[in-house]
Amino acid sequence: MSGRIEQLLRNNQAFVAAQLALDPGYFEKLSEGQHPEFLWIGCSDCRVPPDSITGTEPGDMFVHRTLANLVVQTNMTLLSVLQYAVEVLQVQHVIVCGHYGCGGVKAAMGDADHGLIDNWLRTVKDTQDYFWPQLGVLEEAARFRRLVELNVIEQVNNLGKTHVIQDAWKAGRRPMIHGWVFDLASGFLRRHTGEINGNHAIHEVCKFHGAGAGAPA
Ligand code: CO
Repeated sequence: MSGRIEQLLRNNQAFVAAQLALDPGYFEKLSEGQHPEFLWIGCSDCRVPPDSITGTEPGDMFVHRTLANLVVQTNMTLLSVLQYAVEVLQVQHVIVCGHYGCGGVKAAMGDADHGLIDNWLRTVKDTQDYFWPQLGVLEEAARFRRLVELNVIEQVNNLGKTHVIQDAWKAGRRPMIHGWVFDLASGFLRRHTGEINGNHAIHEVCKFHGAGAGAPA
């Protein structure tokens, strides 16, 4: 094993010792089950660790991380995490968190061919296309920052269009959904949406009202 890998395992032993020194029953309680209040949907970027930047502990936050924090309606991993978090764990809040300097957003701004990953980042390109009237007038650095923000807002909208979230809201249940951006250069998180707990902001064609006439052919 390389030294760095061994270091990780030594760090783990130190973590266990430190936790037990604070609370001898810590792991016993942790193993009893999870009751997180939050679902975090964030970027895979290693500089945006959700627990460190929010001061949360193991057990506080259910987490799904993807490149560029995208909520793609055909992504079974995202949908499964979302359904489990909302319907079984009954999280109170879903936070979509983007970050300035996001490599995925940056890649989607250019015309370079990155292979398969471009299919994933297409969602960001679509957002850029849609908001081009406001993005196109900005110089590149400002456009990059604004696209990061718009991408988060769009993913919050995408969340609101899922059956899981709409079913919860129709039943008068949580979660509230939130769009945040993390600033790598300062360490601060900022809100970029309000606290959303209803589908009034969603276009009528994206709402589900009841049983349909059958699946489309
Ligand atoms: Co990123």
